[in-house]
Amino acid sequence: MRFDANLTIERPTFVTHLECSYTGERYEADRVHNLSAAGKPLLVRYDLDGVKKALNKDELARRPQDLWRYRELLPVRRLEDIVSLGEAVTPLVAMPRLAKSLGATELLVKDEGRLPTGSFKARGLIMAVSMAKALGITHMAMPTNGNAGAALAAYATRAGIRTTIFCPEDTPEVNVSEIELQGATVYRVNGLIDDCGKIVGQGKAEVGWFDVSTLKEPYRIEGKKTMGLELAEQLDWDVPDVIFYPTGGGTGLIGMWKAFDELERIGFIGSKRPRMVAVQAAGCAPMVRAWEKGEEHAPRWEDAHTIASGIRVPQAVGDFLILRAVRESNGFAIAVPDDAIQVALDEMAKSEGFLLCPEGAATYAAYKQALADGRVRRDERAVLFNCATGLKYPLPPVHRTIDRHKPIDFKAL
Ligand SMILES: Cc1ncc(COP(=O)(O)O)c(C=O)c1O
Repeated sequence: MRFDANLTIERPTFVTHLECSYTGERYEADRVHNLSAAGKPLLVRYDLDGVKKALNKDELARRPQDLWRYRELLPVRRLEDIVSLGEAVTPLVAMPRLAKSLGATELLVKDEGRLPTGSFKARGLIMAVSMAKALGITHMAMPTNGNAGAALAAYATRAGIRTTIFCPEDTPEVNVSEIELQGATVYRVNGLIDDCGKIVGQGKAEVGWFDVSTLKEPYRIEGKKTMGLELAEQLDWDVPDVIFYPTGGGTGLIGMWKAFDELERIGFIGSKRPRMVAVQAAGCAPMVRAWEKGEEHAPRWEDAHTIASGIRVPQAVGDFLILRAVRESNGFAIAVPDDAIQVALDEMAKSEGFLLCPEGAATYAAYKQALADGRVRRDERAVLFNCATGLKYPLPPVHRTIDRHKPIDFKAL
């Protein structure tokens, strides 16, 4: 099969309708949608019996290794609407040395830093932009902590769609630069991501921007769903025992949970599910607080702060979907302090040569904490999500030098 077969061969699609994730109300597919009438995220529904007949594991195994291989479970109807920058199936990297030092059987990291724009945000925005193209949307706007904006800018520019992006003023410099360089107009805002979201909402009302905020359009979940599809296929149609996911808006966690359900219904996996663990930073942990109190929704977290800026999300529109997936899976929500995140990042870089992003490091810190307090067993197969390349973030300076004009004491080096 040609390397670009997923982008050039017509395949059947199976979307039947969209559905309010809270009330179950039906919405017509192939129309522009944001939230449901109840103000909740919309979920894409498929004719899964049709998918089951059209797709089998052997056929799938022959397709090129990118997320478009799952076309039958994706919303884009026409080949010409697919927007691609050369996505890769991200590797599952084993961490045997760290696992051994913790007395654990198997520790795997799914390295999302290998995707275009260097983060898993590409998956969601690929789908949102492709569907925007299909639906004739010409101007998209979003609030971002950095990586989502970069992915939107890149894919929307590729599709010829204008973008206006707002980020908190302390967003990593590299994100602000890459957003602008990849064709968007980006503004730093003196506030947090939800403050940026309010500006997008006003722009939508005043000048008709299409609001592509987390879960406020239906297709980013479908893109993030491919993490679950890939993971199950990589494990030979099995699921891990436990997944640690760095949770901000929670699109990936919700998407993976949906993926496992759809995979079971097309007969690709059984009823086993991983326990889903929502990892947050101690300085911004609305899901953890709501999970501990047994609540359905997670009110805003005031004075949010953490070095893991991607998960500095004080309030999430899909809070009940995150909490539902965590509870249904018998998982848990866990907060880790910034110093543990930094230690985790250093430890994995120094002992395995693997550079995590701070949000990915939060999952490793949470895994260690959960092992220590017995919430995860040592014989469980755990998967951590490294959601972005560690190279996007400020790295510690090195001051060591050699004066080549002076004698070198090699024994001391
Ligand atoms: C690196 C990184 N990790 C995690 C997240 C949180 O992702 P989600 O919104 O899917 O919870 C973000 C979102 O900005 C991010 O940039």
